[in-house]
Amino acid sequence: MTQQTERLSATETGIDRAAELLEAGALVAFPTETVYGLGADARQGEAVAAIYTAKGRPSFNPLIVHVADVSMAQKYAEWSPEAAALAAAFWPGPLTLVLPLCADNGLSPLVTAGLSSVGLRVPEHTVARALLTAFGGPVAAPSANPSGRISPTTSEHVLSGLDGRIAAVVEGGACPVGVESTIIGLMDGPAVLLRSGGVSSEAIEAVLGQPLRHGDESKITAPGQMASHYAPQGNVRLNAAQARPDEHMLGFGNISGDLNLSESGDLTEAAANLFGHLHRLDALGGPIAVAPIPMEGLGRAINDRLARAAAPRD
Ligand code: TXA
Ligand code: MG
Repeated sequence: MTQQTERLSATETGIDRAAELLEAGALVAFPTETVYGLGADARQGEAVAAIYTAKGRPSFNPLIVHVADVSMAQKYAEWSPEAAALAAAFWPGPLTLVLPLCADNGLSPLVTAGLSSVGLRVPEHTVARALLTAFGGPVAAPSANPSGRISPTTSEHVLSGLDGRIAAVVEGGACPVGVESTIIGLMDGPAVLLRSGGVSSEAIEAVLGQPLRHGDESKITAPGQMASHYAPQGNVRLNAAQARPDEHMLGFGNISGDLNLSESGDLTEAAANLFGHLHRLDALGGPIAVAPIPMEGLGRAINDRLARAAAPRD
C-alpha cells in the first residue's frame, strides 16, 4: 500500500506532527546520532508490526526501544548498578542496554520478539531527543532501510528505500556517528557485548572495571535461535485445521481456536497478536496447534517465528 510520505522539518511544528503520527500508530523515520531509525509507538502492536511490513523483514528480531531518559527506561526494565553506571557514562549516546523486562511494562510483545529482556537506548541527537520528549512514550526503531539494504545516514537514504511506505521522515542532516549503537547485555552474570557499535568496548570495560564477555552476534540476529528466546513449554503443531483433544488452538481467519490471531485474516493484526497469544495459550499448559498462516507479506515472518517455536528442542 503506498502513501504520501511527509517530509517534516526539525522545527517545533515538524516535531509535533511527527509525535502526533506516532500516537496515531503511524511510522515515522527520524535521525539519531547513529543512523536514521524507523519509529513506531512501542506499545501499539499493529504499529510495531507495520515496521516489519515496511522493511520487508522476513523474521521478527527484537527491536530497540528508544526513550527520553533514565526514568523512562526504568518503567520498562529492571535496573542494576551496572546499568546505572553505563547509563551515567554513555546516555544519551550510541549505547543500547539489554535488561530484564519489567512486569506490566505495557510494551507490545512483538518489540521484544517474546523475550523476557528489552533493549533500551537514550539517543543523543537533538532531533531524536525533541521527538521523544514531545511524544512522551517509548519508540521502537530499527534502522530505516528495507531489510537487507545498508543503513541510512541521511533522510535521502531513508526516502530512497522507504518513500511511499511510511508516514513521514523528519529531516535532520547526516548522522554524526554513522554506525549503529553498541549493544550490551546485562541479563545474568557479567556484561556481554552483543553488537559492536558507536561506543568502544574499551570505554565500556573502563566503566565496568572488568572485561566484557563476547556474545555470538549471529545468534542475536536470529533471536529464534537464542538459548534465552521464548519458546512455548508445550509442543507446537503447525498448519492444523483443528485442535486435537489435548491441544489448545491458535486460530487465524475463519479457522477458529481458543484465541484467534486475526478473525478477519489481517496479517498485521496477526503479527501484533502473535507473541502475546502464544504466551497466553502456553500459560494454559499442554501442546498448541496453530492454524495455517498464508506465506505472504508479514505471513512470512509469522511462519518463520512459528517454525522456530515448533522446531525440536534440545
Ligand atoms: O543505533 C541503533 O541502535 C539504531 C538506531 C535507530 O537507534 N537502531 C538499531 O535497531 O540498530 P535494530 O532494531 O536494527 O537493532 C536491533 C538489534 C537486534 O537485532 C538485536 O541484536 C538487539 O538489537 N536486541 C534488541 N533487543 C534485544 C533483546 N531483548 N535481546 C537481545 N538483543 C536485542
Ligand atoms: Mg538494521
